[in-house]
Amino acid sequence: MKRAEGKVAFITGAARGQGRAHALRLAGEGADIIAVHLCESVGTTPYDGATDADLAETAKRVEELGGRVLARQADVRDLAALERVVEEGLSRFGGIDVVCANAGIASFGSALELSEQQWQDILDINLTGVWKTVRATAPSMVERGRGGSIILTSSIAGLIGFLNLAHYTAAKHGVTGLMRVLAIELAPHRIRFNSIHPATVDTPMVANEASWKLFLGGIDGATREQAAVGMKTLNALPIPWLDMADISNAVLYLASDESRHVTGTTMVGRGAVSHGATAVNARRAYTSSATPSSGVILGERNSLSASLCARRMLASARAGLRRPKPQGAETATTGRASARSTRRSATEARDGCCSSIRPTMSGTSLSSSRSGS
Ligand SMILES: NC(=O)c1ccc[n+]([C@@H]2O[C@H](COP(=O)([O-])OP(=O)(O)OC[C@H]3O[C@@H](n4cnc5c(N)ncnc54)[C@H](O)[C@@H]3O)[C@@H](O)[C@H]2O)c1
Repeated sequence: MKRAEGKVAFITGAARGQGRAHALRLAGEGADIIAVHLCESVGTTPYDGATDADLAETAKRVEELGGRVLARQADVRDLAALERVVEEGLSRFGGIDVVCANAGIASFGSALELSEQQWQDILDINLTGVWKTVRATAPSMVERGRGGSIILTSSIAGLIGFLNLAHYTAAKHGVTGLMRVLAIELAPHRIRFNSIHPATVDTPMVANEASWKLFLGGIDGATREQAAVGMKTLNALPIPWLDMADISNAVLYLASDESRHVTGTTMVGRGAVSHGATAVNARRAYTSSATPSSGVILGERNSLSASLCARRMLASARAGLRRPKPQGAETATTGRASARSTRRSATEARDGCCSSIRPTMSGTSLSSSRSGS
């Protein structure tokens, strides 16, 4: 039997990127798909939005995999529009088993420079849009009484702080909090809520000039290859970014019955980033930087801002200014960072963070997630 056989998945932002990858992964495992997306660009994003043609391509590929598909345009900021698609989906497929609240946008700017519109667009789509997606879909799941799995796409920025992404970080932290509350409130109906926290993923949101520029400390004309060096410093594994398939594999696990008792957990982008490793890498980059040590942003549990450190490392590398490390400095720093990393890993394991993907974590309970009680 296929892993998502007989399930119906409602996916926002399914026209391209991760949303499309989730649709194809789930359809390949037997699911029918309700695909939703916004057929226009959002004015404050530095890249083009998905198009109708993108959504049509998703639908075609789902059908090629043997899945049935309902593909509709609906803005996650518009609850009534989402409810209309849900209604149509219910009459076509009979019920919804899985929801992927995946739609999202990105824009960049320091907290004091963001425009009100940038702030509002991100909060409206990345946080309120997630709540509206749940608000539109979950009532029918409650009424049907068969439980289900709702997967909220947060980000690593939903767990730690990222420079130049205050609005995005605030929204994604909000998604994490929302997931924790919903997991408790809807547990009696056997509707599971988990959030996924991808590191950098190779999608149009990141594979664009504005994003590459950010990772090169604001240098115009930054290339994908140059940015890859900075992005690599975010990850424990020596990779610049994750493939969409890595996230879709995690989504499939959470959508399937393999995770039937997993709820209230934060699943960190598979194999790529851990707080501890990020902090160690960032600190290494940081200690080898020529830039003075002021202005380091501290995130949750004192994680260093990896993007800041990556930016500094790249800036200094480009300028050929690598500062000779003070004797023994890196060893001492790395030692302290490793100890912190080990403590952090233990905490994460306890919290169900990172390790929550293990099938044996079926007992990952609400009380084990940090918000649980
Ligand atoms: N790419 C990354 O590095 C990364 C990392 C962590 C988290 N994320 C998150 O993953 C999710 C998917 O992003 P992606 O990387 O696939 O980007 P993407 O830009 O390729 O896809 C985003 C999708 O969301 C849709 N969308 C945007 N605004 C919408 C709205 N108002 N209503 C309905 N649909 C809307 C778009 O049409 C598009 O199909 C987002 O929530 C993003 O914040 C991305």
